[in-house]
Amino acid sequence: MKKATLTFALMLLATLSFAHANVTSEAVKARMTLMTDFKAPLTLISRMARGSLDFDAEEAAEAKGVLLGLAQDVPAKFSENVTEAASGAAPEIWTNWDDFLAKSEAFTAAVQSLDTSSPDGLGAGLGAIGAGCKSCHRVYRIK
Ligand code: HEC
Repeated sequence: MKKATLTFALMLLATLSFAHANVTSEAVKARMTLMTDFKAPLTLISRMARGSLDFDAEEAAEAKGVLLGLAQDVPAKFSENVTEAASGAAPEIWTNWDDFLAKSEAFTAAVQSLDTSSPDGLGAGLGAIGAGCKSCHRVYRIK
């Protein structure tokens, strides 16, 4: 009961919390929303790993599926070379597209290898996933 309610609360929060009202381009808005959407499944996974949310293998697998779908959508969401003042995307994304793609694929592979069968498995995989976010942001996110 506690877990299901929380899952939906987190999903709702992720949907409501993006403040992209000043962004005019649909492409920029869409990629920002994609990034923001990582939060709900990641929060669920990290709370189950820490034990602040009851572990449920089915829900963990579902959150992984959501993460994976989002990760696989990164190349498509950035394929259009468009930016604007409110965007934090570095122009190097499009001049170094192959490298951006490689970072995106490495991140997707980290999500794919997440072991959702136990809280320890979740905890062990979270580091690699977080490193995947950071290794791309370090180069391709400018604010
Ligand atoms: C392959 C590259 C890449 C990966 C992997 C990646 N990001 Fe991003 N992220 C970006 C870029 C580029 C931006 C800036 C987009 C823009 O503002 O146009 C961004 C922006 C964001 C934002 C700000 C969105 C907004 O509303 O402005 C958040 C939050 C974010 N990322 C979270 C994450 C998390 C969490 C992960 C890992 C689970 C992750 N990102 C993985 C490239 C990446």
